Amino acid sequence: MTEKILVIGANGQIGTELVNALRNVYGAEQVIASDIHDPVDAIRDTGPFEFVNVLDNDNLQHIFQKHQPTQVYLLAAILSAVGEQKPKMAWDLNMTGLIHVLDLAVEFKVAKVFWPSSIAVFGPHSPQFDTPQYCVMDPNTVYGFSKLAGERWCEYYFAKHGLDVRSIRYPGLIGWRANPGGGTTDYAVHIFHEALKTGKYESFLSAETALPMMYMDDAIRATLDLMNAPAESLTIRSAYNLAGISFTPTQLAEEIKKIIPGFEISYAESDPRQAIADSWPKSIDDSYAQKDWGWKLEYDLPAITAGMLTNLKKII
Ligand code: SER
Repeated sequence: MTEKILVIGANGQIGTELVNALRNVYGAEQVIASDIHDPVDAIRDTGPFEFVNVLDNDNLQHIFQKHQPTQVYLLAAILSAVGEQKPKMAWDLNMTGLIHVLDLAVEFKVAKVFWPSSIAVFGPHSPQFDTPQYCVMDPNTVYGFSKLAGERWCEYYFAKHGLDVRSIRYPGLIGWRANPGGGTTDYAVHIFHEALKTGKYESFLSAETALPMMYMDDAIRATLDLMNAPAESLTIRSAYNLAGISFTPTQLAEEIKKIIPGFEISYAESDPRQAIADSWPKSIDDSYAQKDWGWKLEYDLPAITAGMLTNLKKII
C-alpha cells in the first residue's frame, strides 16, 4: 500500500522532526505537513504543506477528503505550563481536536493514527519512582488530565470502532532542531542554548528536581517503531510508558561542564512550573514497550549532552 501521511501540528517540537523523518522513509510528496501557522523553514522546504485548524471540523474534513491519508499524526496541543495560563483553551484544543481527528479517521478509514500522550498523565498519588504502566493517576494540570482523557478516547475508538490508534507517554523531549513550546521540561532544552550563548543559565526548576527525559532521535525512532509494529503485538491502546533517562538540573549542568568547563547554573526563587514538575514521576517503567515492540533507549545523559552541544553549535 502506498502510504499518504498527514501530520497535524507539524511546526512544533516533535512535528518539525517527525515530518522530515517520515519524508525520508516514505518520500517527500507522501507526507503532508499541516499547521495553523505558516510553516517553519525546516518543513516548508522539504515537501507539501496545508493550513489546518483542528477546531474547525469542516476545514479538517476538507483536508482528509483532499489527501485521503492512510496515516495521521495529530500533534497539535497546548503543553503543561501554557495550559495552566489558558486552561479552557488547552482543554478545548487538546480534547476537541482529538475527537475531530478520531471521528474523521473512522469516516475516511484511516489505517493508523498516532497521538502523543505524556508523563503528565501521572499525578501526586502515582508512584514516583519506576512509575508503572497501570497505577493511580490523578493529574492536576489541565494538560495532564486532557492527555489522560485523550488516552481513554483512543482506547475507546480502538474498542468501539476498530480504529488502529497508537500512542506514547513521552518523557520531556530534548532536541536541537526545534524549540519546545510552553512545557515544564523545556529547561532541559533552553539550558543548552544558554550554555553556548552566554555560558550560564537560570533554571526555573530546582536543583534536585528529577524528571524523565529523552533525546529527540530516540523519541522519533520510538514513534516510527511503534507505528510499524504489527497490530497484533500491541497490548496497549491507551498509551505506552517510555522511560527515557531521568536526571536533575544539577546532573545536567555537571554534564555540560565536562564540555564547557566555565558553565554556571543558578536557580530561580520560585516558578509555577516547579509544582507541575513535583507532581510528575521521577522515573518510569517501560517494560510493556520493551516487550510489545522491542523498545530500547540509545541516548544516555552524556550522549544527549554531546549531541545537543555539537549540533546546536553549528546553528546558533
Ligand atoms: N514535556 C511536556 C511538558 O513539559 C509534557 O509532555 O509540558
